[in-house]
Amino acid sequence: MEEKEYQELIGPYRECLGNVENRLKILAEDYRERYGEEPIHHMQSRIKTRESIEGKLLKKGWGQTAEDARYYLRDIAGVRVICYDLEGIRKLARALKRQGDLELVKEKDYIAHPKPNGYKSYHLVAGVPIYRVDGMEYYPVEIQFRTMAMDLWASLEHRSCYKRREEDKQAWSARFLQYSLMLEQMEQAVADYENGDPQNEPLPPG
Ligand code: GTP
Ligand code: MG
Repeated sequence: MEEKEYQELIGPYRECLGNVENRLKILAEDYRERYGEEPIHHMQSRIKTRESIEGKLLKKGWGQTAEDARYYLRDIAGVRVICYDLEGIRKLARALKRQGDLELVKEKDYIAHPKPNGYKSYHLVAGVPIYRVDGMEYYPVEIQFRTMAMDLWASLEHRSCYKRREEDKQAWSARFLQYSLMLEQMEQAVADYENGDPQNEPLPPG
């Protein structure tokens, strides 16, 4: 793919990514007004690089062209929404799914059903409409909702994947599953405490 083709390819994805970020900002503002709380800790957006697009197409055995990228890939535009808690994730995701002009392309709930390695996150691929003089077209945007704990886990796990020696892989997988459960307990304790669960009073100092 020539640089010019890449730039032409990603133009509309960039627009759609901005559009989704805006929708999320508006939802967060409404959430704040209704519940007096900020649901989103931060968002990270990215457009897949040319190298990464070509790498994925090659790996899957598709052509390394802009046409195949447009046809097969659904994660050229991606936004990660890091929330304070599960409640925020559920409410924001539900509200986004109710937006009638978005198309629901794909949904994967790795929070209700974590991956065997302990990965948790709620993934949506939304088709976002773009209007041109000759009509409308949907472009996919991948949205990953995570709590801060899930994001910490996923970031470290991702990093460690590249660094693990082959012979250490099994041991690390088992450890990461443990860490995932520990982080879940930590989040649960905070949530219980906020909800006034007396079982979970903080430990006395000392
Ligand atoms: P891809 O071809 O990788 O996009 O997979 P997919 O179409 O099956 O999508 P899925 O929703 O399973 O995962 C998409 C994205 O979620 C990945 O690109 C990662 O950002 C993230 N992800 C999924 N599984 C893991 C995992 O085990 N560890 C980490 N760190 N991230 C993951
Ligand atoms: Mg991907």
